[in-house]
Amino acid sequence: MRIPLENATELIRKGEVIAVPTETVYGLAAALNNPKAVEKIFSIKGRPSNNPLIIHLAQISQLLPFLSIDYPKDLELLANRFWPGPLTIVLPINEETIPAKARANLATAAFRIPNHPLAQDLLRLTGPLVMPSANLSGKPSATSPEHVESDFGSDFPVLDGGPCKCGLESTILMNRAGKWFVIRMGAISPEKIAQVLGYSPSIDSGNHEGAPLCPGQLYRHYAPKAKLSLVTRIPINHDGNILGFTDRIYPKGMKVIPLGVSSNPEEVAENLYSALRFLDFKGFNSAFVDMDFPNSGLWATIAERLKKASQNQ
Ligand code: TXA
Ligand code: MG
Repeated sequence: MRIPLENATELIRKGEVIAVPTETVYGLAAALNNPKAVEKIFSIKGRPSNNPLIIHLAQISQLLPFLSIDYPKDLELLANRFWPGPLTIVLPINEETIPAKARANLATAAFRIPNHPLAQDLLRLTGPLVMPSANLSGKPSATSPEHVESDFGSDFPVLDGGPCKCGLESTILMNRAGKWFVIRMGAISPEKIAQVLGYSPSIDSGNHEGAPLCPGQLYRHYAPKAKLSLVTRIPINHDGNILGFTDRIYPKGMKVIPLGVSSNPEEVAENLYSALRFLDFKGFNSAFVDMDFPNSGLWATIAERLKKASQNQ
């Protein structure tokens, strides 16, 4: 059910959960300071309770009261360059200021200021919101109101912002012993972050001393029901489905599900989850994916999402 901003504000104030557009993907929003609403998010999504949520703010001035005094000092550089925008930063907090449930009992919390006019308007009216991606746990994130409705039903309240521009989740950064690490690849490439830090942050999205730095990496993600075969050489004389590029020619019998032009990673990122969701919408059992693209910049995030989407099926 599409709702206007006034209703969205009212529902959040009443402790309800609603879907909200951001520039990355749709989020399921609840008031940070309402533990019952935060709990609802976990049950609606089917999300494990040890997977913490990102706290979304309207402006940088709201951040400082949450932080412990030992927060990394070059935070300001990153925040000034990338906020509002698709960067999430994990920071040490003053534990009294954030309900334990939202941060899965960690001594840190993840923060982001989204760059979307509706999300900004809502945040200004409601105060800080927790917002995981608006999909059932394990599924591709939702990048349109239709995706949200397909996961949560047509009666679920959605603040309608149309399709999301980035189409991929935010990049998550964490500081350890004075160095920044990318703990989830996302819409901002390490190359772009390097322009601010003076070095390229290492990617550490895997296991770390037994547990990943980003708890969400433990779980199956982005996956359609269809089995995906990632290929760099296209099979000849095949009549299956392929997630492919609009400027390439594929074997005659193949059904192409378009990702965009092979020279435009932004376009491909924007279309990626729609294409994955389309496979399930059509009830397809399998599809090839054309992986013949570079492994740098935004392409590296696209490749990472596709690898995850093809795993554990
Ligand atoms: O683009 C995005 O980031 C979207 C939009 C709605 O803002 N949100 C999003 O949230 O992707 P979610 O919940 O789907 O993913 C958040 C990730 C999870 O993998 C979680 O484990 C990680 O952030 N995370 C949250 N708090 C953390 C913390 N304190 N330390 C490490 N990772 C954390
Ligand atoms: Mg998610």
